[in-house]
Amino acid sequence: MPEVIALTGATGFVGAELAKQLANTGYKIQALIRPASSRKRPADLAVKWIEGDLDDSDSLCRLVDGVSAVVHCAGAVRGATREQFNRVNADGLARLVIAASTQRPRPRFLLISSLAARESQLSHYASSKRLGEKLLIENSHGLPWTIYRPCAIYGPGDRELLPVFEWMAKGIAPVLGSGNARFSLLYVKDLAQAIDLWLNRNGCVSKTFELHDGRSGGYSWHDVIDTVKRLRAKPVVSIKIPLVLVRLVSASNLLLSRAFGYAPMLTPGKVRELSHSDWVCDNTALSSATGWMPRIQLPEGLQITLEGALTTKNQGVPNDRI
Ligand SMILES: NC(=O)c1ccc[n+]([C@@H]2O[C@H](COP(=O)([O-])OP(=O)(O)OC[C@H]3O[C@@H](n4cnc5c(N)ncnc54)[C@H](OP(=O)(O)O)[C@@H]3O)[C@@H](O)[C@H]2O)c1
Repeated sequence: MPEVIALTGATGFVGAELAKQLANTGYKIQALIRPASSRKRPADLAVKWIEGDLDDSDSLCRLVDGVSAVVHCAGAVRGATREQFNRVNADGLARLVIAASTQRPRPRFLLISSLAARESQLSHYASSKRLGEKLLIENSHGLPWTIYRPCAIYGPGDRELLPVFEWMAKGIAPVLGSGNARFSLLYVKDLAQAIDLWLNRNGCVSKTFELHDGRSGGYSWHDVIDTVKRLRAKPVVSIKIPLVLVRLVSASNLLLSRAFGYAPMLTPGKVRELSHSDWVCDNTALSSATGWMPRIQLPEGLQITLEGALTTKNQGVPNDRI
């Protein structure tokens, strides 16, 4: 009998890729879907969809029924207030942990946190991811847990980094401030593979792992722009966007989001995240524990991502649809 895995966030960018990877490996997947999700259920995916929400404990009990592992990938990545982020990234997680802990045997639990949790002072998002980790570590209700802290993830279907890469591919590169901040990157399929390997290994209990594409020292925006230049074999013009201007726009966006009730991506907290000087991370611990080695480096990953975006547009499918 194939193992049954509970998955949250399967309608999102990372979760959808993960659901594909796990279904291909042969797992049976029970995936949570919000009735109001704006995104489509991938029709070709062998998944048992459980309607519910991280706010709703009954649906979470149905989600984890009979599973051997829970991969918690759902998260609030945009929002205006601390409460909006905490409600999903901390309170929702706590509810899922309690639901999973009632199962016998207790399932293994993998939390997809974020490298942002390393710098929890920067934003409500970062502090909510850190709070979620703390809740799991301090009150796992006996679940064998592991935390993954991926750096910035990119790939087809991404809504955050893709617009920036698309501008670069058109020949214009917006660069925030000096552009010298350093960050790690990870192609989405490599993250899915690292999660697949975690499901196969039992040795990662009570540990937190950082993940990136293996490039020591990470990237600066100038490195990314040079990669795009080489891919398109044409010049890319860098346009420096003063930090003060982006701060102003983000503050206005935050006010507008409160007035009109939408969840903003560009907020003063997001700008503090984007301008943070060091988002470089280290894979060594995860590779030693699971044997995982990222396979896709930036030139290949960017090429696939940009080609994927073009195909999606030509088919008239919005980027946030899967
Ligand atoms: N993308 C990155 O660069 C990155 C980097 C590091 C860590 N992460 C982490 O990876 C995870 C996935 O991120 P993503 O980029 O895939 O984000 P995404 O595309 O916005 O997907 C978020 C997912 O969470 C679900 N969700 C949100 N609130 C929920 C709730 N209350 N109940 C149930 N489901 C809910 C969404 O469902 P709907 O379809 O209903 O909205 C969606 O499936 C997040 O935890 C994020 O913190 C992402």
